Amino acid sequence: MTTTRDFVVNRTDLSRTRWVEGPEAAGIALDEGQIQVEVEKFAFTANNITYAVAGDMLNYWAFFPAEAGWGRIPVWGYATVLRSRSPDIGEGERLYGYFPMSSHLVMQPEQVTLGSFLDLYRQRRELHPVYNTYSRLRRNDAADPVLDDLRPILSPLYTTSFLIDDWLADNGFFGASQALLLSASSKTGFGLAFGLSRRRPEGPSVVGVTSPGNIAFVERLGCYDTVLAYDKIATLDAGQPTLVVDFAGDGEVLAAVHRHFGDRLVQSTQVGLSHWDAPRTPADLPGAKPQMFFAPDQARQRMQDWGRDGFDARLGTAWRAFAARAADWLTIERGEGPEAAARIYAEMLAGRINPAIGNILSL
Ligand SMILES: NC(=O)c1ccc[n+]([C@@H]2O[C@H](COP(=O)([O-])OP(=O)(O)OC[C@H]3O[C@@H](n4cnc5c(N)ncnc54)[C@H](OP(=O)(O)O)[C@@H]3O)[C@@H](O)[C@H]2O)c1
Repeated sequence: MTTTRDFVVNRTDLSRTRWVEGPEAAGIALDEGQIQVEVEKFAFTANNITYAVAGDMLNYWAFFPAEAGWGRIPVWGYATVLRSRSPDIGEGERLYGYFPMSSHLVMQPEQVTLGSFLDLYRQRRELHPVYNTYSRLRRNDAADPVLDDLRPILSPLYTTSFLIDDWLADNGFFGASQALLLSASSKTGFGLAFGLSRRRPEGPSVVGVTSPGNIAFVERLGCYDTVLAYDKIATLDAGQPTLVVDFAGDGEVLAAVHRHFGDRLVQSTQVGLSHWDAPRTPADLPGAKPQMFFAPDQARQRMQDWGRDGFDARLGTAWRAFAARAADWLTIERGEGPEAAARIYAEMLAGRINPAIGNILSL
């Protein structure tokens, strides 16, 4: 007998967590067309902490509801179909996509093709297809165990890196000759640095800004022309037209960039909040006004420009080149069982992150 289990966090105090034991999995009723999956393994990065921090503001708690005041954090990973009342999806199929930190999930596959489906279970009907599209995996998709683990760790983040790189290039880098990336050791950050590094010599030089303890890791990546610590921003040449892409969300650091470059800061793009507990950005900063980057908008634009197949082909080519390099940069660490999941969550929330580790968890 297997009971269901959910990891839930308190929505107003993210340091409070608990496990909710549910009913026996096999006893959960399925309606016609529904499937029940068992979550196999998933990645956990600072991005998942951001889902929790921005849960109310950006609707991330809506995917997998929990009891009032608590939330289930979405994660990217794999699951296997345990039971099926869908005519199209068989028991034993392996899926890739967006799951909760839970042992099981009931889904409602619709618009099923050979390679994918949309989960249109109740509240997930309203969500953006970026989040409720699932891949149906073939047997040999898991043949390379390193790629199998790298995919949930890096590919959702890399899609954003790819889109920012493309958007910056499409806009002539806004005239900048220097690009500053804040939180340069983050996976989304070094995915962008990887893309920009392949645009040399026409593209801007790439400056990685990071915590002192992560400088050696960022230098080893070889994608940044210069690497420096957050408190060394004032040493940069303020005469160069510069753009900044912020994955950190630390208002004081971004303000230091704006004050140092003033009118020479030609573009300021906000992407992440990896420093989620830092002060937010003050208003009325000199230089370009900070702008949020919304990846789904750029993806939609490029799907129109290139067609869906053209988009997938370009992203796929870039992803394969990045994954081949990233396999040397990251060591995969697997955590098994509820204690490991709760520990990695707590460490990530507290900012105790080794950027050279990619975490894969299973409950
Ligand atoms: N808008 C979008 O579409 C989108 C898409 C993907 C990712 N993102 C965002 O980009 C950010 C990076 O995500 P990721 O998953 O790539 O991160 P990650 O690889 O897990 O990032 C790890 C790095 O984040 C920094 N960090 C994390 N927690 C910290 C803390 N509490 N205090 C100080 N530094 C901390 C450290 O870098 P440093 O020392 O270098 O600062 C650390 O090496 C997240 O906020 C994520 O949500 C946004």
